[in-house]
Amino acid sequence: MIPAVNGVCTPGEGSFFLPQSIGIGLAGMEESCISAFLDRTGRTRSREEKLRLRIRRDEALAPEEYRMRITSEDIRIRAGSERGAIWALTTIVNKMRNNRIPCATIADQPKLRHRGLMVDCARHFFPAEEIKRIIEQIARAKMNVLHWHLADDQGWRIQSDRFPLLHETSGQYYTKEEIRDVVRFAGERGVEVIPEIDLPGHTLGILAAYPEHSCGGKPVRLADRGGIYKTILCAGKESTYGFLEELLGEVCELFPSEYFHIGGDEAPKSEWKTCPDCQKKKEELGLAGWEDLQGYFAGRVADLLKKYGKKPVCWNDLLQTKNVPEGMRCQYWTVEYAEQTAEFARRGGEWIYSDMFEIYFDYPYSMSPLKKVYETTPHFGKKPCGKDEGPVGMEACVWTEQIRESENLEERIFPRIYAVAELAWSGRGKYREFEKRIEDEVLRLRQDAIHVMPKERWNPGGKERREEAFAFLKAMGGTPDDAAWAESVEMPEPGKEFVYNMATKFFRPSDLPALMKMYRR
Ligand code: ACM
Ligand code: ZN
Repeated sequence: MIPAVNGVCTPGEGSFFLPQSIGIGLAGMEESCISAFLDRTGRTRSREEKLRLRIRRDEALAPEEYRMRITSEDIRIRAGSERGAIWALTTIVNKMRNNRIPCATIADQPKLRHRGLMVDCARHFFPAEEIKRIIEQIARAKMNVLHWHLADDQGWRIQSDRFPLLHETSGQYYTKEEIRDVVRFAGERGVEVIPEIDLPGHTLGILAAYPEHSCGGKPVRLADRGGIYKTILCAGKESTYGFLEELLGEVCELFPSEYFHIGGDEAPKSEWKTCPDCQKKKEELGLAGWEDLQGYFAGRVADLLKKYGKKPVCWNDLLQTKNVPEGMRCQYWTVEYAEQTAEFARRGGEWIYSDMFEIYFDYPYSMSPLKKVYETTPHFGKKPCGKDEGPVGMEACVWTEQIRESENLEERIFPRIYAVAELAWSGRGKYREFEKRIEDEVLRLRQDAIHVMPKERWNPGGKERREEAFAFLKAMGGTPDDAAWAESVEMPEPGKEFVYNMATKFFRPSDLPALMKMYRR
């Protein structure tokens, strides 16, 4: 089973047979905590039968903690909250074979309180049904966050009544009804859906519809490929904040989540520097640098979110300024700001570990093989983090510049996500033993028609590894001959140097000549 129990699991004699119709007793628990269990097992709750499954709230336990005793007679669960009960019931579903659950006494709870997967549905759009398929599978591994990246340079993916040009311009989007359905489905499975609206960079999806919110106000088009685009939201004009207040209000209504991700990564300042409004704002506020203006911008957005009852999360790029809004949670993805993240953590800031070189699943298995993912350890660049500076969670990310089909998306996620699920719930065990346990999960995934990366490609080596990685990196570097595109982006500088630099992060120096030789073909 994945994740392994983080506590004690003492096997007993015999097994419990799960009847088609079962008496369920709930004490201090909302009825919603059993709905995914009934769904997954195809059972119904009986009001007449003797109670064979009892679930009781126990305030002495942590919110996600549970204790469970399975005998041949009945199952008794105590849990700190509905979510703890959901994890107990998930354990039952995962252990059930031929309608029987082996008798056992279990005490279990997660190591980390945020165990997530980010899916980018802006670069390429994936139907709501696909998102639910993924949610079901990560929930089976007791992950509790789907971070949903819903707006970027390639599109805005949320139906908006207030600003309909947003979804109309992008064409592919989730209706409000679909979003509510995804959120409900996730909630019943213990998963919080955290939306991300990336601001102030990666916003051509917004600006293609409402260009007046950039510095120059000139019309722009949606991006048709990856990159870091120069045109971003203007931080100087008050009208930008008025627009965001209405827009974020509408988005927040759709998501009951405690957190809201405001992005903040890769925001080039080139247009701010020549914008009279941004210059004026910077001067008025007496800000020393342009990163501080982004800090101010993030503070304004954080204030809006507070009004809507949300706590903000940002990427660690924002830590380039000291002007980080109070209460911000930070997601570490790039080693470039590792020092700043370490300092942020030392001062008690909450952070999530998502190192791009370790747990980005848009990278093929040749760059981030399963074994490497399972062996990742939260760190600040070269420094491992100290005991009191550890992250509150781990989150794998799948960016989709190069992923179009659901099949491909699923293969990138499964089975690598089990490594992150287990690290965050129970911590690392022996890799060989973990790989064996994955094989059971793979059988189930195939029954659920999920596309899983075939085992022989989990940890590729040699020439096959180099070729796959090279094809990916070359596509990521873009086509150097497109002058209009090169003009609109700050990064990457297309071509060989980019590919070389990226390759050094994933390959040993001795592999690099063979890799770069492929450039000549
Ligand atoms: C990121 O990968 N730009 C957060
Ligand atoms: Zn401006």
